[in-house]
Amino acid sequence: MSAELTPTERLLRACRGEPVDRPPVWLMRQAGRYLPEYRRVREGVSFLEMCRDVERAVEVSLQPLERVGTEAVILFSDIFVPIPAMGIELDFAPGPRLAEPIRTLAQVERLEVPDPRTAVPFVFEILRRLRRELEPRGVPLLGFAGAPFTLAAYLVEGGGSRHWSQLKRMMVREPRVLRELQARLAELVVAHLNAQVEAGAQAVQLFDTWAGVLAERDYREWVLPVHREIVAKLDRDRAPVILYVNDGAHLVDSMLESGADVISLDWRVDLAAAARKAGRRASIQGNLDPCLLAAPPDEIDRRVHELARAGAAARGHVLNLGHGCLPDTPVEGVIAFTRAARSLGSARR
Ligand code: CP3
Repeated sequence: MSAELTPTERLLRACRGEPVDRPPVWLMRQAGRYLPEYRRVREGVSFLEMCRDVERAVEVSLQPLERVGTEAVILFSDIFVPIPAMGIELDFAPGPRLAEPIRTLAQVERLEVPDPRTAVPFVFEILRRLRRELEPRGVPLLGFAGAPFTLAAYLVEGGGSRHWSQLKRMMVREPRVLRELQARLAELVVAHLNAQVEAGAQAVQLFDTWAGVLAERDYREWVLPVHREIVAKLDRDRAPVILYVNDGAHLVDSMLESGADVISLDWRVDLAAAARKAGRRASIQGNLDPCLLAAPPDEIDRRVHELARAGAAARGHVLNLGHGCLPDTPVEGVIAFTRAARSLGSARR
């Protein structure tokens, strides 16, 4: 490839499986508590207040661009931001906590599916401001949403859980309740992602963090059809869709049936094997273990080269972590990660 690609071109081409000079790089949870400048902006406000505060949200979305050399900006928000507008009371401590878990059909039938543009207008204002800022710099802007299964998991349990036993109990005892809950969430997710693209998001990531707690046969029954429906209702020509599942090594084949442009994998998955399975169907994203960003820079550099070699078997590879940055992730580790990625200069294909 002769002329150098802008970060936007590099990311969008990698997502679509078009030739690039090297894999683009960004990190899940790249804006967060591991950054001292994030903690400063976060001081004195709750997490949800910060998500609604356009100035602060724009500021922290942009922080990793200068500080750690990431090549994409993801909207600062949370998968639970549009949920209170359905009529669900929740708080963060630090993860989502519900006043009342959802367990009955009557509760589900009371849930509204709001128009996100009027329910959470600040999300789209943040995106418009970010896009204006990033467009002249050639840096891509990502939007995101939580997938219905992961949202439902928290809503049914009332918060995070080790075994998700209430959720799984609902799968087998009250399948209709879970199906109806997922259907309403899917409607909201589609509207939310489409509105984000309308407001300037150039790619969108669907986070189904907890779908990996299911056996493949249950994933195929409860999750895959929902992913397929959501992907089919998005305008992928305008903004490619990235699908993330944590702990999903056993689900790669099923994820590839979702129709997503990119499947985002955690560190337990062998990237080269996933790339071979994907073929021309999808690009891959990932997948360094975020805890290994504690390694010395030389080791991070070796790991990035290893990942890039494995990813080269895919039609496209977006370098990322296997899950988000953690509050104790060393900033120097993140910088070493992006620096190593940027040094992968050699032409591919
Ligand atoms: O990636 C980014 O930088 C964009 C912003 C983003 C946040 N959450 C900010 C956040 C994104 C994409 C998310 C997604 C999200 N939120 C997921 C899916 C991805 C994943 O991490 O598995 C889930 C399951 C949630 C729900 C959620 N929000 C939890 C469980 C928690 C607490 C966990 C923790 O890290 O303590 C949050 C809070 C949250 N979301 C923080 C941030 C920066 C920490 C908030 C704080 O400042 O206290």
